[in-house]
Amino acid sequence: MSQDNAGSPVVSAADQAQEHPGDALENLLHENRRFAPTPEFAAAAVVQAGEYDDAAADAPAFWAKQARSLLSWSKDFSQTLDWSNPPFAKWFADGELNAAYNALDRHVENGLGDRVAIYFEGEPGDTRTYTYAQLTEEVKKAANAFEALGLAKGDRVAVYLPMIPEAVITLLACARIGAVHSVVFAGFSAEALRSRIDDAEAKLVVTADGTYRRGKPSALKPAVDDALQKPGHTVEHVVVVKRNGEDVAWTEGRDVWWDTTVGAASAEHTAVGHEAEHPLFILYTSGTTGRPKGILHTTGGYLTQAAYTHRAVFDLHPETDVYWCTADVGWVTGHTYVAYAPLINGATQVMYEGTPDSPHQGRWWELVEKYKVSILYTAPTAIRTFMKWGRDIPGQYDLSSIRVLGSVGEPINPEAWMWYREVIGANAGKQGQKKDHPAPIVDTWWQTETGAIMVAPLPGVTATKPGSAQVPLPGIAVDVVDEMGQPVSNGAGGYLVLREPWPSMLRGIWGDPERYKDTYWSRFETMYFAGDGAKKDDDGDVWLLGRVDDVMNISGHRLSTTEIESALVSHPSVAEAAVVGAADETTGQAVVAFVILRGSAKDDPDIVTTLRNHVGKEIGPIAKPKTILVVPELPKTRSGKIMRRLLKDIAEGREAGDATTLADSTVMSQISDSLRK
Ligand code: WTA
Repeated sequence: MSQDNAGSPVVSAADQAQEHPGDALENLLHENRRFAPTPEFAAAAVVQAGEYDDAAADAPAFWAKQARSLLSWSKDFSQTLDWSNPPFAKWFADGELNAAYNALDRHVENGLGDRVAIYFEGEPGDTRTYTYAQLTEEVKKAANAFEALGLAKGDRVAVYLPMIPEAVITLLACARIGAVHSVVFAGFSAEALRSRIDDAEAKLVVTADGTYRRGKPSALKPAVDDALQKPGHTVEHVVVVKRNGEDVAWTEGRDVWWDTTVGAASAEHTAVGHEAEHPLFILYTSGTTGRPKGILHTTGGYLTQAAYTHRAVFDLHPETDVYWCTADVGWVTGHTYVAYAPLINGATQVMYEGTPDSPHQGRWWELVEKYKVSILYTAPTAIRTFMKWGRDIPGQYDLSSIRVLGSVGEPINPEAWMWYREVIGANAGKQGQKKDHPAPIVDTWWQTETGAIMVAPLPGVTATKPGSAQVPLPGIAVDVVDEMGQPVSNGAGGYLVLREPWPSMLRGIWGDPERYKDTYWSRFETMYFAGDGAKKDDDGDVWLLGRVDDVMNISGHRLSTTEIESALVSHPSVAEAAVVGAADETTGQAVVAFVILRGSAKDDPDIVTTLRNHVGKEIGPIAKPKTILVVPELPKTRSGKIMRRLLKDIAEGREAGDATTLADSTVMSQISDSLRK
């Protein structure tokens, strides 16, 4: 038997809910704690309670009002929502606007050119500050440079960059000229990058020589070179940002340095309006099959909901707040809440390149203190990591500037929620002083597909509740339904659905309208199926219970079991593989793989390491299984379907559950025997 880790015995309600959304509900704690906003916070909040009623009275009218007040349109729209051909929605269809103009130029025109847009902190400690005027200039130059490389409206651009300002500049430059960006997280492999380049038929790739990881330079460009090695791709040019100065291979005629092209380009560029439904970006995300889906977002509706939710959920006061969202631009959170919403709203934000423990475990808190961050938006997995490192570390810093805390990406357990509140939200200075009124926490539920936050408390309105994302935002129709699509009553659980179209909804899956219908609109015909289990508590507040499909959530990153299984069986030593997400105290879930080896591979002592690295190469380091268990058989039904539920029991250290539907009833004992050996 080969095993890296015995698997965590922790069984969360979320995990149990994956296959039987109803079963786990009994185990859910009854949360009685409530934290109402202080009267001062409530009085100064940008959004007041009345907004729910306004939106409920006429949701499209509510969104039309937001679209006009938060964005500048070069051509106003006459129709708000066209839902005549569901599930294909059009929002503000005859309107025109430019995303980059909205994020940049108009602020400069309004006299805010000197406001800081981005405080960038590199991993080695180098810093750069961009005012709105400077960022506007950089984006105009990049737009000119991209056009000079032959890029035109509608062309696709693959972006493979670390968390550096050029990532935001690239996205906005694409949006400015109407090119469609497709960001591929820099932790994905060359293979993953190539398949995304091919699916979107990208014409340009923007990358960097490398980045820094835990104090050391780490290369990026070689992955792009690898990805483009095989002919048959559509890429004409690769623009390379010089970040860490590593030597890189160079393909003359194809590769160009950012500094020489963008650096030399003119800073004059006029933004023209694009149709509201013009594609803004594609972002690939894992689904239940092996092939990632290119989620398509368009311009007007997406930006409306991005801007609205950023302002409402974080109670943004752009004149005084310093906002920091720790997400990488490779994920949707880094799109909506780093690249677009904060800039559309004229906010000042912090951007950090590195990991939280580099060069020391207090790095984030040092940054909060240094920049006086007032709104922090991060993921439960980070919070649980900080909990492990101990409260003394944040205790050494002055975090008194913080006034709103956000959480996203996975369910936040009440224990982590309370720690976030008490250790981060109540910190009033280095000497361990505590605030009388800790910063409110907003747990935000949404997805790559929803484009923007859908369920979250409003910090000036809602009395928050540890562990629950609570209430649909104004203008959003969320429900929890049973197998038959009937709404559940309070206290019961089922599936999270969306009953009405929303402005930032995905417009489809790139190149595959049928898959869009099948995945989201066929489980319940007239409702969007999110793939999450959920419960309504006695107050009617929504609790998210985790995925009900084969999608795993590892540190808030989406990975599909089938995608990793395909990677494993592509190795010549593997005959069969089954992957499950097992509960993990820090990362929420961890990848556990069960493999059947071929012939002589059984005698290879390094096979587990070899296979982990193989998955890293096929998909990326984030997908490497934490544990690989070599087994003689896999549990299958008579129709050949792998019963992952039973494997999950083993991975989580439980007695395997009901195995009566197995084709071969001895398989489970064969597996346990072999694991015992
Ligand atoms: C999960 C990230 C519970 C959920 C924005 C969803 C959450 C998937 C929460 C989407 C939350 C996200 N509470 N679960 N606050 N936020 N999720 O596409 O399972 O990377 O379906 O988007 O993350 O992940 P994605």
